[in-house]
Amino acid sequence: MSIAACTEFLREAGKGNKILGQQMKAMTGLGEIVLLGRRHGYAFSTEELVKASAALSAEDPGGTAAAGRTAPTNATRATTSFYHYEYQLADLPGFEAVAAELPHLKIMPSSVSLENFATGFRDEDLWSTALSPASDEFRSWYGRMLKTQWQHAPSDLPSKWGFHLVDLDEHVEHEGYQDYFEAKTRVIAALERVFGDEVRFSGSLWYPPKSHRLWHTNEQHPGWRMYVIDTDRPFEDSSHTSFFRYLNPQTKEIVTLPERQKTVRFFKIEQEPDKLLWHCIVNPTDRHRWSFGFAVPETWQQSLGLSG
Ligand SMILES: [Fe+2]
Repeated sequence: MSIAACTEFLREAGKGNKILGQQMKAMTGLGEIVLLGRRHGYAFSTEELVKASAALSAEDPGGTAAAGRTAPTNATRATTSFYHYEYQLADLPGFEAVAAELPHLKIMPSSVSLENFATGFRDEDLWSTALSPASDEFRSWYGRMLKTQWQHAPSDLPSKWGFHLVDLDEHVEHEGYQDYFEAKTRVIAALERVFGDEVRFSGSLWYPPKSHRLWHTNEQHPGWRMYVIDTDRPFEDSSHTSFFRYLNPQTKEIVTLPERQKTVRFFKIEQEPDKLLWHCIVNPTDRHRWSFGFAVPETWQQSLGLSG
């Protein structure tokens, strides 16, 4: 194991080896990259990956060799009064291949214990999603939580506070991983054909029953995001579904988007303080929900033949 081997691997993924470069776009988890390195004959640990990636980033800021986690440089200063766009998967041209891969992506890794998962649920967290991030009540609660997170032992709070969900890319040690990984790389290829530019996975998330991602802004990763959302079964009651909620940065209105199966949602992450897109995702139902996120080019609407 060595940092040198990892550096060589990242350089190859960034510049030399096209297949490897494509595979890297499908990855968001460190463990996945370590496994991919091993399959290509490079032995390194996650710690070595972090160090090698940081060194390459310092050498070549924004370079593709730096890491598989770098989003395309598609952030702009342009503003929009529309903060989200939603479509049905079947209505988007060129998305047939993505729809066909969904059964391979919607996995429940055997390494996840739903029983343990359920113990991480806290009423107080769910309660916070009903507040407005612009309210004093939320700000004081949020400040308190951040403080608690730093001061107390991890046993007091779920290990990754704010994430009561399963990051599929953190699970590589299960029998279904290889099939899942191959499906992800095929999805990247399909989406790059649609958008005619680079596309990367930004997150592959499984929201079991009673799960959530609390209010956040993702401001460290600006740019357009696309999420493909699906569930295990349709929602029978349209007033009781999973939902995406955001704070309109201009009007401070809270917008709640009830979900249904096979939906594609686009929204833009900004970094300037007055344009931050505070958002949260909640699955209060007994359905399993999956969402697959991608960093997509600024020109996504034109590529789809939509306005913009
Ligand atoms: Fe987010």
